Amino acid sequence: MSYPEFRLNMKYILDECASTNLEARDAKYTHGDAIIAIRQTEGRGQRGTKWDSRPGENLTFSLVLEPVFLPAAQQFMLSEAVALSVADTLSAYGVDTRIKWPNDIYAGDRKICGILLEHDLLDGRISRTIAGIGLNVNQTVFPEWVPNPTSMMLETGNTFDIHDVFEMFCEMFCARYSSLAEGGLERIEEDFRSLLYRLDTPARFSIPGRGEVAGTIRAVEPSGRLMVEIGGEMHGFLFKEIEYIL
Ligand code: BTN
Repeated sequence: MSYPEFRLNMKYILDECASTNLEARDAKYTHGDAIIAIRQTEGRGQRGTKWDSRPGENLTFSLVLEPVFLPAAQQFMLSEAVALSVADTLSAYGVDTRIKWPNDIYAGDRKICGILLEHDLLDGRISRTIAGIGLNVNQTVFPEWVPNPTSMMLETGNTFDIHDVFEMFCEMFCARYSSLAEGGLERIEEDFRSLLYRLDTPARFSIPGRGEVAGTIRAVEPSGRLMVEIGGEMHGFLFKEIEYIL
């Protein structure tokens, strides 16, 4: 059985929209379409946060995917593939990054890219995913409320053409997505683990209802559960059940 590869289909460049993730919900967009916004007026982040990005300085875009081959229980694999594609892209420009679970991209201890994946499920499979990516490219000054931001410019001292960076991302994502569609889960899992931020490094975490704890990240399960060793025992956490203290 052959599965749909990712090939960039239509590229829509909008001068302005509220959020490319919201725009991408329109049924006119189908598998392989990309919506790039020069300016988002209501950019959205994880956990109901705002995504701030200076118009024209960064890449803010969403991809529409129909990963019908992927069981809903394996949706985290797609999140891993997207995060790895961003890390691959940044590596091609000389920026070394780590993936802060579940899918923030960090250069050192600073966030350079945020990812917001939204899935539609049908009969236990993923019928449609909107993968929203906010990659800080040329911005050097950020609002005070943005925690630990950095950008490609701040990391390298160079400016970049955002459209070139987008093309590079597409190339990297084609490879990662095809590998996922062909069942290459192990490679994706291994690469994700090898780039995991603070793996095997003692750190502090905040756990809702339990407060601050010391622990060490040991693994991420295929389901996306973060496995943290706390007081000699392994504990599993889902998204929103634990937060790093940086
Ligand atoms: C995060 O909080 O880290 C996720 C940020 C995701 C931002 C991107 S920018 C393009 C797309 N459109 C949005 O409104 N959000 C995502």
